[in-house]
Amino acid sequence: MRQGPLAVYRQRVAAGELNGDPDQARVVERLDRLWRELATMPARPVQAPQRAEGGALGRLSGLARRFLQAPAATPVVARPRGLYIVGRVGRGKTMVMDLFYACAPVMKKERVHFLRFMQDVHQKLYALKKANPGMADPIPPLAHAIAEQAQLLCFDEFQVNDIADAMILGRLFEALFAAGVVIVATSNTEPGQLFQNRPGADAFKPFIAIIRRELDTVELDSPRDYRRGREQDQETWLVPADERARTRLQHVFDRYAGGEQLQPVWLEFSGRTFEVDQAAGPVCRFDFNSLCGRPLGPNDYLALARRFPVVIIDSIPSMGMDEANLARRFITLIDALYDNGNLLFASADAPPDKLFTQGEGSDAFARTASRLAEMGSESWLEHGAQAAQRAHSLSRA
Ligand SMILES: Nc1ncnc2c1ncn2[C@@H]1O[C@H](COP(=O)(O)OP(=O)(O)OP(=O)(O)O)[C@@H](O)[C@H]1O
Ligand SMILES: [Mg+2]
Repeated sequence: MRQGPLAVYRQRVAAGELNGDPDQARVVERLDRLWRELATMPARPVQAPQRAEGGALGRLSGLARRFLQAPAATPVVARPRGLYIVGRVGRGKTMVMDLFYACAPVMKKERVHFLRFMQDVHQKLYALKKANPGMADPIPPLAHAIAEQAQLLCFDEFQVNDIADAMILGRLFEALFAAGVVIVATSNTEPGQLFQNRPGADAFKPFIAIIRRELDTVELDSPRDYRRGREQDQETWLVPADERARTRLQHVFDRYAGGEQLQPVWLEFSGRTFEVDQAAGPVCRFDFNSLCGRPLGPNDYLALARRFPVVIIDSIPSMGMDEANLARRFITLIDALYDNGNLLFASADAPPDKLFTQGEGSDAFARTASRLAEMGSESWLEHGAQAAQRAHSLSRA
């Protein structure tokens, strides 16, 4: 049998790649148990839910067609309990989950950012309904299709911000669990606090009960945020956003542009056009307002992150109680840049920790501040600069 997560974790500590951390080790031990349980789990037949009504088989996707032709329901499949890893920012939740995911002895597995997963769910539900106007309930066939593709689903940053997601989640997860899917998730929010203090929170309670019933909650709360305390680069976050900062950012722009010509670029995403007015080679530059002051979403920011390895943002303001929308878009933008490994240079009114301290979503902003600290570290810049160079030479090849 291949090595499990605990052995790999210990090796990385011994090699000096990771700091030894007893809280992390405890969570990795629990993941190691799941790893062993998965290794001995018999191959599973996917349970078929009740037949959906109506719908033209001919117009269904291959997966949905197979579902509709599947035999009647089989008994619920036995499977190990999944895990819900919760804790404050920067404690290593994503790191331990990724370590587990890489070892997991399952052929069909998927690791995905939870927001991206939900976007995909909405798109697929829409497509199923469109192709089958008579279909009463597209959730069971969708769950079946997901279960056919992944026996293990690892969700990074489980969160529920949206009433549309909240409405779907309970039945979707119930169907996934019934089909034998094992779920591991990381989150900053305990299950009992998900989607609370919001309109519709009561209707969400059954979902919380399902999570508690199916997943073991393990807390990862090491004493330190590993994103902090690294050697900081002096150029990545300039305060205040004055003329001097503007000039320094121009130097950064020129350095990464590497002699490429300044030119406008249009990005296409989901039929929307998004104009980048200052771009040269791998680098682009924006004013904060043009990036976060209009209704752009995760997909737009992701398209931007993928196209430009180096992003420069001028004049990030301190945000007040009534600017929660602005702050939310900035959080989404930084999530996209961080997940994609981009380099970020910015000028701002204040250090990341002081930018948005009060108002709806200021809790989530703690994650953004932690990420910005890591993105301002010398080690991030080193890795990122290499990646930027690779991406750029690929795009020119
Ligand atoms: N034991 C450790 N030694 C050294 N670096 C670590 C250790 N644990 C985590 N890190 C690093 O710290 C950073 C933050 O870890 P990670 O992204 O896993 O945190 P997280 O708990 O998922 O945070 P968030 O809640 O913000 O998503 C990563 O770059 C990770 O590789
Ligand atoms: Mg994380």
